[in-house]
Amino acid sequence: MANANVMDKIVSLAKRRGFVFQSSEIYGGLGSVWDYGPLGVELKKNLKERWWRSMVYQRDDIEGVDAAILMHPKVWEASGHVSGFTDPLVDCKQCKHRFRADDPRLKGTPGEPDAQCPVCGNKGTLTAPRLFNLMFKTFMGPVEEQAAVVYLRPETAQGIYVNYLNVLQSSRQKIPFGIAQIGKAFRNEITPGNFTFRTREFEQMEMQFFVKPGEDERWFEEWKAARMQWHADLGITAARLRFHPHAKDELAHYAKAAFDIEYEFPFGWQEFEGIHNRTDFDLGRHQEHSGKKLDYLDPATNTRFLPYVIETSLGADRLALVTLVDAYTEEEVEGEQRVVLRFLPAIAPIKAGVFPLVKKDGMPEFATRLAADLRHHLTVFYDDGGSIGRRYRRQDEAGTPFGITVDGQTLEDQTVTVRDRDTLRQERVAAVGLLAYLQARLVG
Ligand code: GAP
Repeated sequence: MANANVMDKIVSLAKRRGFVFQSSEIYGGLGSVWDYGPLGVELKKNLKERWWRSMVYQRDDIEGVDAAILMHPKVWEASGHVSGFTDPLVDCKQCKHRFRADDPRLKGTPGEPDAQCPVCGNKGTLTAPRLFNLMFKTFMGPVEEQAAVVYLRPETAQGIYVNYLNVLQSSRQKIPFGIAQIGKAFRNEITPGNFTFRTREFEQMEMQFFVKPGEDERWFEEWKAARMQWHADLGITAARLRFHPHAKDELAHYAKAAFDIEYEFPFGWQEFEGIHNRTDFDLGRHQEHSGKKLDYLDPATNTRFLPYVIETSLGADRLALVTLVDAYTEEEVEGEQRVVLRFLPAIAPIKAGVFPLVKKDGMPEFATRLAADLRHHLTVFYDDGGSIGRRYRRQDEAGTPFGITVDGQTLEDQTVTVRDRDTLRQERVAAVGLLAYLQARLVG
């Protein structure tokens, strides 16, 4: 299934079934910005909740925060983003298109007469590469002048560093401890693409773990293993997951060591989470630029040190794309082709479809009541249109793990059939015990 054709099918299913729509589509769309539809918002919300639960609720050494997107402009000077968060770009003076300097479509040497623009085809019109900052700028307050420039954050991490002391003092945590955050980030990417893989507005789930210098390498290994295990527990195909260590020349300006977790998408192996040893770079820079002491007094030894940071940084949109691609399956069932999204039941947007077998004999009334009861606890879709086979297929395509059918026997003995999306096995279950039956299968 590793080909572009599969990606086209997934993009088309995502739109048809309401996972992802292009932003502002009725106006022709906005480049590399996407909206989540009714199923997509549930999938992404389930993934974010699962991450938050594992980071913040299931551990006693990580606290959560929700920092603002807009931050003091000095934050980005201190972090190195104003000077260092750049891509080398080439402009065509003729057609005004802009390219990354490493764009494989560029022929010749940009800046020289032999270079050819891949869009307008002119020769000698490409500029030599120039550094272009990826941060979006806007203005704060009523005046649009240099002094009022603020940035849309390009990573959520800085909102954690500037709150490190606040959290330490208000939560009574001791080092080692972590701070987790889920939030939007913005990058003016020049070669975005591959659906929601690289976008200009996206969400990150980041956790910064503050440790004693010297213990950083051990914690780095611990978090690497924990994050890979988390993806395995999510049911992502093991053979399509791997680590990619950053070589020295790939390391971000803040990192001493970094490993990506990569997934094998139909368009190749690509990063969707990064684990970084950021040393004391960020706290050191914020201490220097703010003039505020950020070091830690170790109560055990009564000595002071600036903590090192191990960061885990996962893109919520990339993770949603990984789960969508990994779940996508085409197969033949009872002589018919079906498309099924084999999501882990716990993250499926809709947990159960409820169907009256026919629209008579009290079946719709029973099924409507059943669906209403279940809705207090689970996401449920009620469907009484078309053959039961077609209704099952529609839910297969949405990744709904359970299909519940109310039939003639239901009215006699108050049992329903429960169809399993993956095995297609049907079990009769008493309506009274249905919720407990489903809930037992939704954990994990
Ligand atoms: N705080 C560290 C940091 O931001 P990064 O490797 O630049 O590190 C981390 O980004 C994760 O954020 C990536 O692995 C990816 O999942 C997500 N991400 C980064 N840029 C993105 C983009 N343009 N579109 C979608 N997700 C992106």
